[in-house]
Amino acid sequence: MKLQLKKTFNLIFVTAIIAIAFLGFKFENKNGVYRTMDVNKANVSDVLIFLGDDDMVHSMTSFDADKAKIGEDLILNGRTIVNGKKSKRISKYFVCTDCHNLGREFKTITDESSEARLKYADDNGISFLPGSTFWGMYNRTSFYNNDYEKKYGSLVVNSRDTLQNAIQLCSKYCSSGRYLKDWELESIMHYYKKNELKIKDLSLSENDMKNVQKYSKLKDGEKEALIVKIKKSYLQGYGATFLPTILTDKRKYGEGGNPEIGLKIYEKSCLHCHAGARVTNLSLDKGSLSAGLFWRKIKGYSDKSLYQIIRHGTYSKTGRKQYMPLYTKEKMSDEQLNDLVAYIKQLAGK
Ligand code: HEC
Ligand code: HEC
Repeated sequence: MKLQLKKTFNLIFVTAIIAIAFLGFKFENKNGVYRTMDVNKANVSDVLIFLGDDDMVHSMTSFDADKAKIGEDLILNGRTIVNGKKSKRISKYFVCTDCHNLGREFKTITDESSEARLKYADDNGISFLPGSTFWGMYNRTSFYNNDYEKKYGSLVVNSRDTLQNAIQLCSKYCSSGRYLKDWELESIMHYYKKNELKIKDLSLSENDMKNVQKYSKLKDGEKEALIVKIKKSYLQGYGATFLPTILTDKRKYGEGGNPEIGLKIYEKSCLHCHAGARVTNLSLDKGSLSAGLFWRKIKGYSDKSLYQIIRHGTYSKTGRKQYMPLYTKEKMSDEQLNDLVAYIKQLAGK
C-alpha cells in the first residue's frame, strides 16, 4: 500500500514536470490568450504587454491560424474560397504583393535606407517595391506617414493610427479596388498577427534578453527601461518623403551612376509589374526597344521620363483604374535613380 502511494506520487510528480516543460513560459492574460515569454518564440507585442506597456489600438486578444490562412489567400490572390465558391476579388487590377513584400527587407531592422533595402533584396532574391513589407506590420503604430498626406489628403487622417483603416485605404485606393468586408479585414489582421516581429528578430543584447525572460522579477523602472529599449529596436512606422522631379538642367543622365545597380532596380522593381505587361499596358523587358523608349523621353517631364514617373507615379482615372505608385526617397534614392538611368543609357546603346 505504501509502495503504491509512492508510485502514484512519483507519477504525479513526473506528469507535473512534463506539463511545465510543455507549457514552457506561457502565461494566461485576462482574456484567456496564451502568451509566451520564452525568448526564442515570444512575440514583441506580447512581451511589451507583459512588461506593462499600453495595448496598441489594434491589439488582438485572440489568434486564429485558419483565419490567418484565409488572410494570406486574400493577400496573394485577392480572393479566397468560401463554401466552395470563389469570393469577390478585392481588386480587378492588383493584388497586395504587386506593391508589398511579405518578409524581412533589411539585414538590420532599424535600417531604412533604400541602399540597404536593395542590397538585402539582391542577397535574398526578393523584389524591391514601392510599398513597405507586411512583415512586422502588426508592430507598427503609424501608417501612411509624412508626405502620404499629399497624395491621399484627408483619407490618411483616420488611417494614420489605426491599422484596420490603413488596410481599408489601401484596399480601396492603392489597389483601385473596394473596401473589405468584415471577415476579410479580420482575416488579414490575423495574417498580420501571425507575421509579427519576434523578440529574437530584434538585435537585443544578451542582458536584455535575460531580462525579458525573467521579467516578473524586474522592478517597475527596469521594466519601463526595457520597454524603451525594445521599442528602439524596430521601426514603429516607416518614413515617407516625396521628392520633386529633378529639373532638366540638374539631371545627371546616368553620369557617375552604376549600371549594375540600375539593372537590379530594373529587374527587381520595374519588371515586377511591367514584364509581359502584367499589371499595365506597358510591357517592358531587357531589350533595347524598352530602353530606347525611355532614352528618347529622358529629358522631358512626361510620364515616360524616368525622372517624372518614379517621383510621381500615375493616377487612376475613370476608365483607366490601374496606376503606378510613386517611389518615395525611402524606397528609391536619387542616386539609385541615376543608377537606373545609367543602366537604361547603356541598354539603349548611348
Ligand atoms: C499598387 C500598389 C499597392 C497595392 C496593390 C497595395 N498597396 Fe498597400 N500600400 C502601397 C503604398 C505605396 C503604401 C504606402 C506606405 C508604405 O507601405 O510604405 C501602402 C501602405 C499600406 C499600408 C500601411 C503601411 C505603412 O507602414 O504605412 C497597409 C496596411 C497596406 N498598404 C495594406 C495593403 C493591403 C492589405 C493590400 C492588398 C489588399 C495592399 N496594401 C495593396 C501600395 C499598394
Ligand atoms: C506596382 C506595379 C508597378 C511598378 C513596380 C512599376 N510600375 Fe510603371 N506602371 C504601372 C502601372 C499600373 C502603370 C499605368 C500604365 C497603364 O495605364 O497601364 C505604369 C506606368 C508606367 C509608365 C508610363 C507609361 C505611359 O504610357 O505613360 C512608365 C514609363 C513606367 N510605368 C515605368 C516604370 C519604371 C521605370 C518602373 C521601375 C522604376 C516602374 N514603372 C515600376 C505599374 C508599375
